[in-house]
Amino acid sequence: MPPKLPPALPYLILLSFLFFYLYSTSLLPHSTTTSSTITTTTTTRTSSCNLFKGNWVLDRTKSTKPLYDESCPFHRNAWNCFRNQRENMGLINSWRWAPKDCELPKIDPERFLELMRNRNIGFVGDSLNENFLVSFLCILRVADGSAKKWKRKRAWRGAYFPKFNVTVAYHRAVLLSKYEWQPKQPTMNDGRKGIYRVDVDIPAEDWATITDYYDVLLFNTGHWWGYDKFPKETPLVFYRAGQPILPPLGLFEGLKVVLENMVSYIEREVPRKTLKFWRLQSPRHFYGGEWNQNGSCLFNEPLKEHELDLWFDPSNNGVNKEARKINHVIEEMLQGTDIRLLDLTHLSEFRADAHPAIWLGKKDAVAIWGQDCMHWCLPGVPDTWVDIFSGLIHNSL
Ligand SMILES: *[C@@H]1O[C@H](CO)[C@@H](O)[C@H](O)[C@H]1NC(C)=O
Ligand SMILES: *[C@@H]1O[C@H](CO)[C@@H](O)[C@H](O)[C@H]1NC(C)=O
Repeated sequence: MPPKLPPALPYLILLSFLFFYLYSTSLLPHSTTTSSTITTTTTTRTSSCNLFKGNWVLDRTKSTKPLYDESCPFHRNAWNCFRNQRENMGLINSWRWAPKDCELPKIDPERFLELMRNRNIGFVGDSLNENFLVSFLCILRVADGSAKKWKRKRAWRGAYFPKFNVTVAYHRAVLLSKYEWQPKQPTMNDGRKGIYRVDVDIPAEDWATITDYYDVLLFNTGHWWGYDKFPKETPLVFYRAGQPILPPLGLFEGLKVVLENMVSYIEREVPRKTLKFWRLQSPRHFYGGEWNQNGSCLFNEPLKEHELDLWFDPSNNGVNKEARKINHVIEEMLQGTDIRLLDLTHLSEFRADAHPAIWLGKKDAVAIWGQDCMHWCLPGVPDTWVDIFSGLIHNSL
């Protein structure tokens, strides 16, 4: 007996589901670069929500229990807060990020690596991307204990997961473009010890030629664009086409020009099929002074929502204002490109309680370097970044 033609309604529902799915996973063309949505499908409904907006809720169930501990071989000592016996590690890892209108699924390392089989993920940028990478490696290792350190192709740090033939690695390029130290010429008498020459139109060698090795790339820069790193005795001097840019650019103008050039390099040189992400600034939480002025972050719990603007809005001129300022520039530069934004700033702004602070694993580190209120304890907040990033990759492949 031939099957009866079904009525149209179920088809329509199915079609709209499909449309919704395609739309929210960015397979259909659309005009923005934001990829803040994730699709959660149940048998009865499909919804999408902004993963970057929400709140931290205290949750002492095992759902917040970290997937790794101090024994992960990919740790960097200064961020290995269990080993360094940081106080409050239990509490730090009892907060769960709750996006406003949905649940953020925790990564399933086995399932994720299976999805990534025969593919590679590359991180490019500064130590905040390295911090992110270490969390990612320690989490993925749960599904493949035979994971090995991997430092080929100019990678600074990384791992190969043999069970799945997946490489995840970090390429250090703090300004993204090429820069090098040039000592003072004897004829110059301008009070400088030398300059850091930045070639705004040349990407750093650490990543320029490796982009086609990766199926997913995640860029960042921002934390080195400050006068504390490059004071006027040893400033950044910007060059284009081999010539100094005149009149000389300040740091912030230099950042804009470098971003413009790096984004256009990525658009031009990185294969179209590569998934490209750009993560926004990780906020710092120095309280009472800069890092070199006894700035401190000995907090026991996250900031409250109403405190965030006081800390971070540039108009309040606080110690940590640069994150949002730099974000504005990055967002502007990414308009109209196929690079997606990973806006981890807001959720991280809350977490004044989750930096290594004075627990750095070395006796004199605080006396020399001050507290670390910039990087993050591991396990900790970057594990939530991993949940979000892996979820977005999952929805896009
Ligand atoms: C592993 O993955 C790479 C791509 O990253 C691929 O070229 C290679 O053939 C894969 N090896 C095996 C054994 O599947
Ligand atoms: C930082 O603290 C030390 C010890 O308490 C003190 O001697 C020093 O003057 C402080 N520095 C600043 C910049 O406040």
